[in-house]
Amino acid sequence: MSVDPSSRPEIENLLAEARTFPPSAEFSAQATATADLYAEAEADFEAFWAKRAHERISWFTPFETTLEWDLPFAKWFTGGELNVSYNCLDRHVERGLGDKVAYHWIGEPGDTRTLTYRDLLGEVCRAANALRELGVQKGDRVAIYMPMIPELPVAMLACARLGAAHTVIFGGFSAEALSDRINDAQAKVLITADGGWRRGKPVGLKHHADEALASTPSINGTIVVDRLGGGIHMVEGRDHWWHEIVARQSDVCPPVPVESEQMLYLLYTSGTTAKPKGIVHTSAGYLLQASFTHEVVFDVKPDDVYWCAADIGWVTGHSYIVYGPLANATTGVMYEGAPDTPDWDRWWQIVEDYKVSILYCAPTAIRAFMKQGETYPAKHDLSSLRVLGSVGEPINPEAWLWYHDNIGGGRAPIVDTWWQTETGAILISPLPGVTTTKPGSATFPMPGIAVDVVDAKGDSVPLGGGGYLVLKRPWPSMLRGIYGDPDRYRSTYWSRFPGMYFAGDGAKRDLDGYLWLLGRVDDVMNIAGHRISTIEIESALVDHKSVAEAAVVGKSDDITGQAIFAFVILRAGQEPSDALAVQLREHVAYVIGPIARPKYLMFTPDLPKTRSGKIMRRLLRDIAEGRVLGDTTTLADANVVDVIRDKSGSAEED
Ligand code: WT7
Repeated sequence: MSVDPSSRPEIENLLAEARTFPPSAEFSAQATATADLYAEAEADFEAFWAKRAHERISWFTPFETTLEWDLPFAKWFTGGELNVSYNCLDRHVERGLGDKVAYHWIGEPGDTRTLTYRDLLGEVCRAANALRELGVQKGDRVAIYMPMIPELPVAMLACARLGAAHTVIFGGFSAEALSDRINDAQAKVLITADGGWRRGKPVGLKHHADEALASTPSINGTIVVDRLGGGIHMVEGRDHWWHEIVARQSDVCPPVPVESEQMLYLLYTSGTTAKPKGIVHTSAGYLLQASFTHEVVFDVKPDDVYWCAADIGWVTGHSYIVYGPLANATTGVMYEGAPDTPDWDRWWQIVEDYKVSILYCAPTAIRAFMKQGETYPAKHDLSSLRVLGSVGEPINPEAWLWYHDNIGGGRAPIVDTWWQTETGAILISPLPGVTTTKPGSATFPMPGIAVDVVDAKGDSVPLGGGGYLVLKRPWPSMLRGIYGDPDRYRSTYWSRFPGMYFAGDGAKRDLDGYLWLLGRVDDVMNIAGHRISTIEIESALVDHKSVAEAAVVGKSDDITGQAIFAFVILRAGQEPSDALAVQLREHVAYVIGPIARPKYLMFTPDLPKTRSGKIMRRLLRDIAEGRVLGDTTTLADANVVDVIRDKSGSAEED
């Protein structure tokens, strides 16, 4: 092919979505956020954040300077002192909200707990006093490795109360992942549990912790929650039961004032190299932007029952189960277990039982529900739902519409929220009472956020084109760095385009200026000189009535450089066949154009995903190429790869 690559757009714009959904007049009339937020923030973004920092945060010492920006290092609200746990708990109790429910917690086996703001404050104080007994002080790091039980947010807030930083390690990670992170953070104490419930079975955690602690010299002691009650091995002098060391403490523990830039937490994300990156978040700017976005993106009101169905082990849980909602004195739902236990309507039962009014979850969950069909949600009264959110990946238009119709009753606005562990809070999203949505588009940057789509030279791509997503201005909840590695921080995020933060994602802007996220640029394929994003082909496949989910990768090809290889999961009741494979390939060609017709198409019962639900295209590429598999330690279900690989010999070919 004699195509001059420089004459091609960075990423082709292939899919055009014409359907639009304006907010209803009733919703707009009652919505908290109005369109003038955009103008206010554009006029003076520092003043915009300063005003909100005065209003939303209770300061022990007011800040002096809004922003010190020494690119790429930001300091927000310097001179100020606050305590994050005070802002999430004490001040609500002081103004009479002590009896308001902070969390309705539901265990997978059906046990429940209700914690009011007063209960939570008392428990956080006891846990903080226990940490202090184990020697934890302001500036120390504490590792947390727990299932989704109330003691997890309690442990995080207890650290914040002392001015210590936590690092939460997702409960699905291995002993090795745990010890790597503990060692990188040099954590003093580990808070863990004997285990938790998942898919009807008790899943042990403490034996992983024991294995990890064999090589973590910084750890002085552990606190262990007894969730399963089965009895486990405790190491004398090192391990302490939560129900002993926490329970015997005083429920008074004065919050330690910290500077605005005190580290609140570290959260590790896997990089392209083996060593995970410890993303640093600090106190005031993070709390401000988490609470602001939580309120305006979800239109949260005092009487809402809000459920973010993520795991607290990910940033979504940090910002939108713990810090944002608690700073706003919101009543939340927290669920321990799996969406299919005991059956596929578990979530809808919870929505009905607790009259959940706001639901925030990932496209991977929505597609899993879609695969099971409409009958599960149809069995339940979901009329309490008034706002739906999506996060973690691009949501395909068909999944968006399914969510809208079957969960939101055709009535609830959907907010597709783009952000990252590094950004700390939602940066691109509709405002539900303002924005006319388009299924599959995260729409516009939030007020105060400067987003652009640029070409390889860093120049803005005109409307209608695709390119690299960048941020052109600091924001309060931005990462402050990679723990202990300023050079890696600079080179990972700030060197590709000088003066800009490069998010690693591709995006396009349509002629109306709407942003469409196209996935990680590492996943972009090059088909005969056309740079094509996998998400558009996946969305075209999911658009077919037989398909529940699809993943697309590039496979090397002698003629076109790369050829499109599609892995397809069918909806319940659909049978794979050669005829259907042909039909699906034609469907993509019809929806997008012949350039996008998959050369290879394989039906599969499942896809390899990370534990946060992202498709591991790297592994699919290995399978497509028939290569030995790369690192699989972050894979949720290692068997999936074997199942797919066994079948890949029989992939269809043109
Ligand atoms: C990456 C960040 C944000 C919290 C959970 C994931 C992808 C996230 C969207 C969205 C399209 C999205 C991006 C981003 N992503 N939200 N609404 N539409 N893509 O946090 O693990 O740090 O992942 O998730 O690729 O860069 P994370």
